[in-house]
Amino acid sequence: MAHLFNHNVLLGVSGGIAAYKSAELVRQLQERGASVRVIMTHGAQEFITPLTLQALSGNPVHTELLDEKAEQGMGHIELGRWADLLLIAPATADLIARLSMGRADDLLTTVALATAAPLLLAPAMNQQMWKDPATIANIATLSQRGAQMIGPASGQQACGDTGPGRMEEPSIIAQAATELFATGELAGKRIVITAGPTREALDPIRYISNNSSGKMGYALAQAAADAGAITTLVSGPVNLTPPDHVQLLCVETAEQMLNQCLALLPQCDIFIACAAVADYRPATIQEQKIKKGPQEVSLPLVRNPDIVAAVSASKHSPYTVGFAAETNDVVSYARAKMERKGLDMIVANDVSDPSIGFNSDDNSVTVLWRTGEHTAERANKGTIARQIVTLIAQQIDSAS
Ligand code: C5P
Repeated sequence: MAHLFNHNVLLGVSGGIAAYKSAELVRQLQERGASVRVIMTHGAQEFITPLTLQALSGNPVHTELLDEKAEQGMGHIELGRWADLLLIAPATADLIARLSMGRADDLLTTVALATAAPLLLAPAMNQQMWKDPATIANIATLSQRGAQMIGPASGQQACGDTGPGRMEEPSIIAQAATELFATGELAGKRIVITAGPTREALDPIRYISNNSSGKMGYALAQAAADAGAITTLVSGPVNLTPPDHVQLLCVETAEQMLNQCLALLPQCDIFIACAAVADYRPATIQEQKIKKGPQEVSLPLVRNPDIVAAVSASKHSPYTVGFAAETNDVVSYARAKMERKGLDMIVANDVSDPSIGFNSDDNSVTVLWRTGEHTAERANKGTIARQIVTLIAQQIDSAS
């Protein structure tokens, strides 16, 4: 069954009578595994209190654009980046009109402009308003820009009219939200992804490692599974919940990661090396705890195998994607690394900016392949991962 695990749904509620159904919608989204945050317009608060939606979503409800305190917590830019999906239900005629004009006159419309996440609208209004040429034109404009619609349904309306304009039922909206992520772009493809750091032991209790959180690799595994790929995640030690429908194989050292990946290669169409593999490991692992001794000690290290280079050089070589964390001349270093390691694609990011990359929830990358490149603007790692998966699918399609 399709699901919303590990997906952040930002639910916008505008001011229509159907706003009372948003409470049930929050529950339905959560039952499918989503994390939910809610933005309410002023009109929405006339129909349902923020407290209700706060209690159900487990997060403070966002209502104000020009509120110093709110902006310090999670402001409009952070909310936009946090979202994997902006779902507006109900979307009133006025909200739809303001969205179609690209206005930013309250928090909800501002976030709609400030997010790279897809937009799903559940319109709700009087049937005559729905049929009005102005609304029809606004809906057409938003559809052309990529917004998706669910509903409205037809039937008895709160105002006594009968016709199209009722907000779809929460279960149907939640299902539509779920299906948005099930792209099928990599249906049936077998994909192996490395993630997280490796850990290289010095003695029974100490090791060399790095700060990789594994978030990008786990987000890629989620995006690959959503795209229909049979997904295996070879992960170093991290503190993350494994994505649903993904086979998780845990390893510690670079050598274990290499052996696990090589064993998987005969059943692998796409390989993504996202792990931050330790370049060196101690030449020997001491059997007993190393005792404190002289002021200075030196530690002989040996080079670890390059996993992604070994994969691309193997006879089963799949479509191979690597990552390049650089601090300067990002694109030219990354392109050179792609050539040197024999990769089909490389995802380059600038790690000189501490607010993206390693431990952060956001990233901003340039994806390079032999004949082109694409820059993904700063967004959460789920959104970036879906863009990378789409690019891989396009490149594989164009080569076949
Ligand atoms: O050489 P560098 O570490 O900059 O290369 C980064 C890319 O190579 C990443 O895709 C990383 O997962 C992969 N890599 C690897 N094995 C190593 C070192 C890096 O697979 N030993």
